[in-house]
Amino acid sequence: MSTNGSVIRCSIDGKEYLAKAGKYINDVARENGVYIPTLCNVIGIHPQGACRICTITVNGRMMTACTTPVAEGMDIKTNTSELQDLRKSIVELMYVEGNHFCPACEKSGNCELQALAYRFQMMVSRFPYTFPKRKIDARNPKLVKNYNRCILCKRCIRAIKDEQGRSYFAFRKRGHKVEVGIDVDLGKFISDEVAQKAMDICPVGALIKKEQAFRIPIGKRKYDKTPIGADVESHHV
Ligand code: FES
Repeated sequence: MSTNGSVIRCSIDGKEYLAKAGKYINDVARENGVYIPTLCNVIGIHPQGACRICTITVNGRMMTACTTPVAEGMDIKTNTSELQDLRKSIVELMYVEGNHFCPACEKSGNCELQALAYRFQMMVSRFPYTFPKRKIDARNPKLVKNYNRCILCKRCIRAIKDEQGRSYFAFRKRGHKVEVGIDVDLGKFISDEVAQKAMDICPVGALIKKEQAFRIPIGKRKYDKTPIGADVESHHV
């Protein structure tokens, strides 16, 4: 059995790699130029395993790459047609579960969900659209929270905190009604800098900083220029 910090040998898509035991599979893959799609994961923040888009197989068994540490002898597959279809179906489910109208969204071109839909060549979802009735909350002085677009990835909850470590965001309600909202009291103290960080860390357009949405015009945004994953894959040797 390997211990954290020791070096192990594993195989990713048939190629052998050395890696530090205990590192997450997603990080080892990314550092070696193998792109595994992620949505809820943020580099440097404790992983949550919320979205399942990073599903890979380890010795034939499905696992999430963002929460599974590498270990000696693992045979990891990241790119089978079954995995690709599973990931595509997760993106399709997210589209039908909320209201994601890309052409009208301020985050278009900077949205990871949209970029993944392009990557998986999604034309229309195989699942029926639900068109839920959800609110848009613009009470916060700096941020607009659009519940139609939130995919419950918890990135904002985990990453955007005040100096005492309190999150500006929190889960509310239960079951299928669960939602991530801005803490009404703490939220009053969000600075411009924190609001921008929150907008940037949101993978979709659920958090929009007021008066900033179209600062960079559509057509000139991150994924308008380079498809998602291309930066990782360009490091592949
Ligand atoms: S990125 Fe791994 S579960 Fe979301």
